[in-house]
Amino acid sequence: MTNKNIKTLLIVEDDKGLLTQLKWHFSDYKVITATNQKDALDSIRRYEPNVMIQDLGLPPDENGVTQGFELLQQALILTPFMKIIVMTGNEGNEHAMKAVKLGSYDFYTKPVQPDVLDFIVQRAFHINEIESKNRKLSQNKNIALTGLITSDETMLKICKMIEKVAPTDTSCLLLGESGTGKEILANSIHQLSNRCDHNIVAINCAAIPETLIESELFGYEKGAFTGANKTTPGKIELAHKGTLFLDEIGDIPLQTQVKLLRFLQERVIERIGGRTQISIDTRIVCATHRDLDAMVKAGEFREDLFYRIAEIQIDIPPLRDRRTDKILLAKYLLNKYKEQQKSNIIGFSEDAINAIENHNWPGNVREIENKIKRAFIMCDSKYVSATDLGLKLTENTPLNLKLVRQNAEISALKQALISNNNNISAAAKSLGITRPTLYDLMKKYDLN
Ligand SMILES: Nc1ncnc2c1ncn2[C@@H]1O[C@H](COP(=O)(O)OP(=O)(O)OP(=O)(O)O)[C@@H](O)[C@H]1O
Ligand SMILES: [Mg+2]
Repeated sequence: MTNKNIKTLLIVEDDKGLLTQLKWHFSDYKVITATNQKDALDSIRRYEPNVMIQDLGLPPDENGVTQGFELLQQALILTPFMKIIVMTGNEGNEHAMKAVKLGSYDFYTKPVQPDVLDFIVQRAFHINEIESKNRKLSQNKNIALTGLITSDETMLKICKMIEKVAPTDTSCLLLGESGTGKEILANSIHQLSNRCDHNIVAINCAAIPETLIESELFGYEKGAFTGANKTTPGKIELAHKGTLFLDEIGDIPLQTQVKLLRFLQERVIERIGGRTQISIDTRIVCATHRDLDAMVKAGEFREDLFYRIAEIQIDIPPLRDRRTDKILLAKYLLNKYKEQQKSNIIGFSEDAINAIENHNWPGNVREIENKIKRAFIMCDSKYVSATDLGLKLTENTPLNLKLVRQNAEISALKQALISNNNNISAAAKSLGITRPTLYDLMKKYDLN
């Protein structure tokens, strides 16, 4: 197995004496050696070295084909990011230049001077490492949507749409029930945008009392009101150059809607108690679980504001409508917690799978998360059961009306007895039955 953190150096040289010498010299690295093209290519496949020192003057193979340039080209096809240093003997500069043109990183003319070669090799490793970090960074940018797990067609369309709109400055409105992933998507929009080097500033409009929301949004000057001890920028100002995520926008009071609209039209703010106008360049992303259309019709949400914030509207389907996602997410989350908690749990039992499929998931993905967390506490075996998840068994057990009635009766009796401190008369009264009937029922169900 290859360990990507170990610096691996492949040395290809047909002079066995020199090869051994070089191997000892570079003992700080993990050194692999080869004396011909075939072995070299095998090693490249197997170890994916970071750097290769290659003798360009390898003797021709059994078919008379020169191996030096051939190896160089094949190696670069297999591992385009490996840094290749070619060593030339008497072939001269012409060959060295050709090798560089073909993609080798550097060249070195024999005889070997260890110090100089050391320096070249060190630098090659360094460049290889920097390039690898850069690749990782740029890959992460493109996979900002990877925190989002889905195989549902509608969701996949939404992901595509987000990838398209993210780099623009259009305002996006994310609509969906609680726990459907509005926040994840808002973050993705920011991460995939050109503003990703700046902040995404979120404000949950439902969590802030009406009296405070304006100071939260617009900030205030020192002395603007009692308690304003120092000048404080608001969320809008903090989102300058970045993204402003107005979560639960449906909960914003009408009076604040007017001020927000003004900001969206003019793109300037004044802190409360301030006179200076501050220009703000920010991208607006909003989310709500409320029906904004209905709110507009009912006069609870300004229509003009609605159109400003919803240049692109994204309707996120509830989990119950994503056919394949329930199990997919459950499995994904199970694995996630399994790794976090180093647990022995292997998977779901069949009854759990049935129950997950049949549950309605009103709390959407957040509910799955919670139920899986719960299962990790409750589960005593290797397989999580429906009961561990706190879900009803939904194996296709035929409905038995008698059983359903009995269970309902037992639970009503228990409830009445508990809430009336086991006072039989009071319990009977609250159930709307006589004392003898209650006694009969208690006897029937063995409730003492
Ligand atoms: N498709 C998904 N893949 C993986 N995790 C997800 C997915 N959708 C949501 N989650 C996770 O579920 C939880 C709820 O998601 P999120 O906070 O984005 O939902 P929301 O729509 O903003 O909910 P609310 O309206 O309650 O604020 C988060 O922990 C999030 O990481
Ligand atoms: Mg949210």
